[in-house]
Amino acid sequence: MLNRKDLLGTADLSKEEILSIIDLAELYSRDNIDNANNTGVLRNITQINLFFENSTRTQVSFEIAGTKLGANIVNFPLGNSSQSKGETLLDLAATLNSMFPDILVIRHPNSGAVQLISEKVKCSVINAGDGNHEHPTQALLDAQTIRKRLGKISGLKIAICGDVAHSRVARSNIFCLKKLGNSIKVIGPKTLIPKGIESFGVEVTHNMFDGLQDIDVVMVLRLQKERMDGAFFSSEREYFHFYGLDERKMQYAKPNAIIMHPGPMNRGVEIDGDLADDINRSVITQQVEVGLAIRMAILDLLTAKHPLRKNV
Ligand code: NCD
Repeated sequence: MLNRKDLLGTADLSKEEILSIIDLAELYSRDNIDNANNTGVLRNITQINLFFENSTRTQVSFEIAGTKLGANIVNFPLGNSSQSKGETLLDLAATLNSMFPDILVIRHPNSGAVQLISEKVKCSVINAGDGNHEHPTQALLDAQTIRKRLGKISGLKIAICGDVAHSRVARSNIFCLKKLGNSIKVIGPKTLIPKGIESFGVEVTHNMFDGLQDIDVVMVLRLQKERMDGAFFSSEREYFHFYGLDERKMQYAKPNAIIMHPGPMNRGVEIDGDLADDINRSVITQQVEVGLAIRMAILDLLTAKHPLRKNV
């Protein structure tokens, strides 16, 4: 059970809430494989997807998740909307609120924008990524993928590698995985590791060979150039040499360590293409599959007490 209106981040989720989402997602995962019909779950519920920033897997996954549960889905057409005519975010929130949606799924380039909207609307709001702040559904799907693949989601040594400074995925994962009882190391160049990140209870190293020793899970982040203003590394070639995950560096992790990446990936920049495709170690496509089940579980749990669901 999730006793909350919104899902804005993992920072304020309890361990119990995280586990209840993952447990329900496990059931939806099986249902998806068995082609079970769950279209009654969100019947009568209206879900609006608002993506102010590009997205492939997150947007499509939320759309399919809602569809599989029988919701009425509206994809807000931002290109043609009043946003391009200068409407403020708060005016947009008021407009949407007047249309009685039940769930808003929002991605926005500014940290905090999703929370701002959530405070102005009556319905549930799900953060699908805000600036470099939080991306809770990515962290939850990562936790479930780890549990599926390694059989547990506590007591693990997890390395988060690369462009941590610009990554909402890294922040949400640190909060979530710490609460579940794992130890986290962040590895990357000094320019891409935020100062003071140790206060989140993580260890920091700037050397991949040292950092990957004895690691169970290697999480690789995309170099998020669209968020960089200025030079953070000298060249992609040099970045790959020092920080790109390749066979040589992977040798330092545990022999059964798994490789993760939230996508979209830059092959040959942060990860070697062959390693990303190695189905014995890379779980990248499984992350996408699990993402669908996690989003179904969250849509279900957040609307569990909705009056329109009484008859279901
Ligand atoms: C991530 C995002 O948008 O934050 N992608 C995703 O949602 N799968 C990571 C990224 O863009 O690098």
